[in-house]
Amino acid sequence: MLKKVSKLNNGLKGEITIPADKSVSHRAVMFPSVAKGRCIIKNFSSGADCHSTFNIFKQLGVDIEFIDDKTLSINSDGILKRSSTPLDAGNSGTTTRLISGILAGQNFDSVIIGDESLSKRPMKRIIEPLTLMGANIESVDGHAPLTIKGRKLHGVNYSSKLASAQVKSCVLLAGLYAKGETTFTEPYLSRNHTELLLNYLGAEIKTDKTSVTIKQSELEAKDINIVGDISSAAFFIAAGLIVPNSDFIIKNVGLNPTRTGIIDIVKRMDGEVNILNQHNDSGEEVGDIKVHYNDSLKGCTIQGEDIPRLIDELPVIAVLASQAEGQTIVKNAEDLRNKESDRIKCLVSELTKIGVNIKETSDGFIINGKTNIKGGAELESYHDHRLAMSFYIAGLIAEKELAINGFEWTKISFPEFEELVHKLV
Ligand code: S3P
Repeated sequence: MLKKVSKLNNGLKGEITIPADKSVSHRAVMFPSVAKGRCIIKNFSSGADCHSTFNIFKQLGVDIEFIDDKTLSINSDGILKRSSTPLDAGNSGTTTRLISGILAGQNFDSVIIGDESLSKRPMKRIIEPLTLMGANIESVDGHAPLTIKGRKLHGVNYSSKLASAQVKSCVLLAGLYAKGETTFTEPYLSRNHTELLLNYLGAEIKTDKTSVTIKQSELEAKDINIVGDISSAAFFIAAGLIVPNSDFIIKNVGLNPTRTGIIDIVKRMDGEVNILNQHNDSGEEVGDIKVHYNDSLKGCTIQGEDIPRLIDELPVIAVLASQAEGQTIVKNAEDLRNKESDRIKCLVSELTKIGVNIKETSDGFIINGKTNIKGGAELESYHDHRLAMSFYIAGLIAEKELAINGFEWTKISFPEFEELVHKLV
């Protein structure tokens, strides 16, 4: 679908509520499905990725139903059943990598398949530690389809080269089924929703800086209220800072410190966002964000431990950086090449078309601002939801109308995106 976006002449104003966090939604289906008992999950994501996870656990025999479009009831005895048909993870890397950890320790075999983009994403990163735990996984040269032959697992002490919450979660979930203790260490702290939720559901889990240790544990179901997604809010934070005269509030945004890199970067750029009503809900920090236009943003360097705290926000941060005076350098973000698209290459090729001064590097990009967004071009989203939404935000300040091809991919994480933009116009 070709989506046309034009410049907004008045700023964005008012108030919106950000829908559920995608990462937490996945986990809020997976963990209660392997826990004992009945629970209610409120504010579940309407994104297609999380629905892939829902369908898979239904297929694995869990009594899981939608009570309404955002509320789930899950009733499980903690035991999964073999599916006679492949488990379809669709476009979702999180689904594939996390359930692999669960499936590796079952007493049955499973096959995980996915769409074209998912079948190109690297799976060696999970196959390697799971194999060390005794798992048996067949892949197509390190890619899906994955055939997982359930086995008895044993604990491992694994040091990962990557700071990846998906790899960490996969190993910890396998650790739930493994004999003894499993320890995962990463170079920088990646998002810790798995640790928080497993702890909330009664797992024996301990963290120490960038290491986390889990013991074979049984989980107990508990109700979960899912906070809003800061990665979705990021599109609005960027829009508010670059669309003149904007001033609005984004409500119910998850503020887990392992996810708030975008807020730190805005401050580093001399932008201002204010956090209101911060509190804790089901183990996660949450609050409202007030954002308003700033015409004196400055470039900054984003690297090292910043990266896992804003990995999904880098496409829209590129748009933001194009409106900042001076240079913005993003480094140590090579894993951006392994997302739903090669986000480094695709960002550079598409943003160049609309006049952004952006250069590709092996592990990131360099932007020289401030540049006028010219528009008048058709940008390709490469089947990547976050690219599609980032280009839409650029369109809000483009001199000429911008067209985005493949805009329907926003349904993967944020089907409500455009409706919420219209609410603020
Ligand atoms: C996710 C972790 C991140 C992120 C992805 C969701 C998660 O990936 O990019 O969108 O829910 O664990 P990595 O941990 O592999 O970097």
